[in-house]
Amino acid sequence: MDKLIIEGGTKLQGEVEVSGSKNACLPVLAASLLTAGECQISHVPQLDDIGTLLDLIKHLGASVSREGDRVAINATGINSVEATYDIVRKMRASILVLGPLLAGFGRARVSLPGGCAIGARPVDMHLKGLEALGATIILEHGYVDATAPQGGLRGGKVVFDMPSVGATEQIMMAASLASGTTTIENAAREPEVEELAHVLNQMGASISGAGTNVIQIEGKDILGPFEHRVGPDRIEAGTLIAAAAITNGLVRVRNLRAEHMESVLTQFRKVGCEIHVDASEMRDLSHVLVEGPQRLRASDMRTSPFPGFPTDMQAQFMACMTLADGTSHIEENIFENRFMHVLELVRMGADISMHANLAVVKGVSKLSGAPVMATDLRASASLVLAAIAAEGTSEILRIYHLDRGYERLENKLNALGAKIGRVTSSSSQKH
Ligand code: UD1
Repeated sequence: MDKLIIEGGTKLQGEVEVSGSKNACLPVLAASLLTAGECQISHVPQLDDIGTLLDLIKHLGASVSREGDRVAINATGINSVEATYDIVRKMRASILVLGPLLAGFGRARVSLPGGCAIGARPVDMHLKGLEALGATIILEHGYVDATAPQGGLRGGKVVFDMPSVGATEQIMMAASLASGTTTIENAAREPEVEELAHVLNQMGASISGAGTNVIQIEGKDILGPFEHRVGPDRIEAGTLIAAAAITNGLVRVRNLRAEHMESVLTQFRKVGCEIHVDASEMRDLSHVLVEGPQRLRASDMRTSPFPGFPTDMQAQFMACMTLADGTSHIEENIFENRFMHVLELVRMGADISMHANLAVVKGVSKLSGAPVMATDLRASASLVLAAIAAEGTSEILRIYHLDRGYERLENKLNALGAKIGRVTSSSSQKH
């Protein structure tokens, strides 16, 4: 298993480009299963999670070709509607093939993802939503076995108990090939939902309201192929902003979508960062110049669904607050067990106490490098941030979590002056 060795204490300086968004790309790849035509997707990030979904799509019988950041998928050859446990267990988002397979082929069998490090994360809302479109769902032997009624899925009314990004995307895709109109109430408003709606509309579906909490989908008998450039990753962008903040650096983060990052930019301004947004030469995108203060100021923060502060930035923000002047209260409201990074940060000298979904972070004047263990994707990012700001050397183990969702984060940070080395498993065996 690869690990990172990080020498802390450098101020980051320079420019860094944001990659394509993992969470926007995954549902877009799944949507390619809704058509027999060839779909072209560009600005696809090189990430393990993307590789996992592409493997699954290939395994179903579709043809997949990948060159640089471009992927072409043609689902004409699909000859299986089963996503097995060995693929789904690697990545929960594999469940996103359920709706497209069911809508397109009348049946799908997908392994239940099970729990994960950040909480139970059930898929009950995905399943209830598909049932509202007429599907029969049987849970047996750890699999979801879904069958569409004679004549295919039909439009229906879906009301979610809470906004779920994945369930909203799942139902939007299935409803695009259902007969009649579907309404989703209490839908997730995240930008990734809007991006998927844009793609589905390009395929011929008729979706309105994406980005609000009520979405209407008029299904079509047949959908056509699409071409899509994946939008920038707002969580990677936020992580890079946090890297500038925690090292008192001066970094221009290039080509992000500022209107998707209001809550994050506001929060980092609140803790003392100077942030200037200016237009990029690329349409709709911006560059953000971030200057971290000598010392960050403590500030409370609570995660909430978009447009609130994203749960996927909670760990990185907490890493910053470990070094702030004062005490911050950080409340996690989306996932029940998303404080796995706390104990590792404490091993680096942070002063954090946990009370259910609240972490109380008392800022310390320095962190000290230590061997720590990555436990999930964003937790790993928080440890990298703490390590680049800490005195001395840190070793971050189980870095495969980081590779699931960041395109060689260490290369991007090293280009800004960080000192991060990767020891690959084969070279680590030599030592
Ligand atoms: C997506 C993101 C993830 C992010 C999360 C919240 C992807 C691939 N992943 O995950 O990075 O942290 O949104 O912004 O886009 N829930 C249920 N039943 C369900 C589905 C969800 O109870 O059927 C609960 C979850 O346990 C959680 C909440 O709903 O408490 C929100 O989760 P959800 O928005 O579904 O997260 P994901 O789509 O899995």
